[in-house]
Amino acid sequence: MILAIESSCDETAASVVKNGREVLSNVIFTQIDLHTRYGGVVPEIASRKHIEKINQVIEEALARAEVTLEDITAVAVTYGPGLVGALLVGVSEAKAISFATGIPLIGVHHISGHISANYIEHPELEPPFVCLVASGGHSHLVVVKDYGEYEIIGRTRDDAAGEAFDKVARAIGLGYPGGPKIDKLSREGNPDAIPFPRAKVAENEYDFSFSGLKSAVLNYLNSCQMKGEEICQADVAASFQKAVIDVLVEHSLHAVQEFGYDRFAIAGGVASNSALREAFEKECRARNIGLYLPSPVYCTDNAAMIGAAAYYEYQKGVRHGYDLNAVPNLKL
Ligand code: KG4
Ligand code: ZN
Repeated sequence: MILAIESSCDETAASVVKNGREVLSNVIFTQIDLHTRYGGVVPEIASRKHIEKINQVIEEALARAEVTLEDITAVAVTYGPGLVGALLVGVSEAKAISFATGIPLIGVHHISGHISANYIEHPELEPPFVCLVASGGHSHLVVVKDYGEYEIIGRTRDDAAGEAFDKVARAIGLGYPGGPKIDKLSREGNPDAIPFPRAKVAENEYDFSFSGLKSAVLNYLNSCQMKGEEICQADVAASFQKAVIDVLVEHSLHAVQEFGYDRFAIAGGVASNSALREAFEKECRARNIGLYLPSPVYCTDNAAMIGAAAYYEYQKGVRHGYDLNAVPNLKL
């Protein structure tokens, strides 16, 4: 029975997870409204809000799971990567709970959490498999060799996929958070209206690059403005989104086949994108690849995924001391 805490960015979250895969509660306080008027996450505001909310969120997670701290086997917390001030709130809270109660402490890598979100709703899923992690800070193609054991075979050379969504959304005037807004608006647009580039990285066929695509969108917007042409926001959104999805799908499925796996999972905030999910469903079905998708609520930041990852760390005997610190650039 794991109490998990997540505070690496702008979500204050706590969850109780039983036996690694059964979510008894999943409480998420999102700060989106607070950051919207600044056009992105303001780290100092995020840290302060985490401090205000964290006790309440944890109490609610325990109450909804109908347990008390006495029922908890381990307390797990994201200790990186993320915003250092935001991470420190969760890490300090978890250490305090552990110190006060004697419950063992387990630090979890945020991306390991995202990947482990796939275990929650798929009891049959076990490593090895290939996983695409596409979030606001990461675009990784990962071979999950065993629980908590990862080999990164592709990564982004510049912007993460979610970052590209957020920047393009800002450029076309949709504001923050960009991903869900582009997702929604794209449904009204033509994905083939504007031929945006699909970048390939010469040295590693599994790596990604999204900054050229972002520049192409900005150039397109500028040239329309200079020519006095009207911009169709929905067409730009849909064409940009299609360009991102095409690259993510092509690189991922190429990796699955080249490495000889028959199971593939996706994770991270961008994995909640409806068109991306449809594209992977279609392409995996055509190639007979077993596809695993977490529900959207387990794609974006949450603590249940941290509880799932922590369960396997606990089984391996991982325990952290009270010197556990927040590591903003923690490697997978
Ligand atoms: O995993 P996540 O919640 O936080 C990080 O660890 O970064 O991912 C957040 C990212 C943001 O860039 C957001 O715009 C993107 O995921 N995102 C989406 C969608 N929902 C969230 N991108 C595309 N379509 C969505 N529906
Ligand atoms: Zn995340």
